[in-house]
Amino acid sequence: MEQVSFINMADGTKEDYEFLEELEKEFNKTLPDRLIESLEKLENSLSGYKVSRLEHSLQSATRAYRNDEDEEMIMAALLHDIGDDLAPYSHSEMAAAVLRPFVSEKTYWIIKHHGIFQMYYYAHHMGGDRNTRDMFKDHPYYQPSVDFCERYDQNCFDPDYDSLPLEFFKPIIQKFFLQEPKFQH
Ligand SMILES: [Fe+2]
Repeated sequence: MEQVSFINMADGTKEDYEFLEELEKEFNKTLPDRLIESLEKLENSLSGYKVSRLEHSLQSATRAYRNDEDEEMIMAALLHDIGDDLAPYSHSEMAAAVLRPFVSEKTYWIIKHHGIFQMYYYAHHMGGDRNTRDMFKDHPYYQPSVDFCERYDQNCFDPDYDSLPLEFFKPIIQKFFLQEPKFQH
């Protein structure tokens, strides 16, 4: 079989879907490569900061690494702004969706909400409420989200920080995103 038999999914057969599943499995093996490509594209993303979005991401991951965080948190830090290009109005959710099959509920939650928690550092200058995050004050992941933004996001715009290069993180990406997904739909 080179192609499925159907035009409408409703007419697909078991063989069709088994065939597609095999192709999808193969395709998913190159997910790490595509994530690396997306990270490289962050070199030419949002401007005006003292560092590129890629450097910001590397700084975030490097700080997590040097703080002895586990691989999951290092990968979350590295990818937390990967949605900036395609989801400028909901970048946190996009990054969280990419991470979701491979990380804990806690890490997923932190990344999904980091945009709101980051507002603490700038929203008051723009007529917004810097304490918007307080809507989650009683949530078990409130403090870990505060900590993530404090340690691995708001402080990662330093052009003089000695970030580890993307090359350093590539083997971790290659391994981490080939794990069996814990979530799928
Ligand atoms: Fe960030």
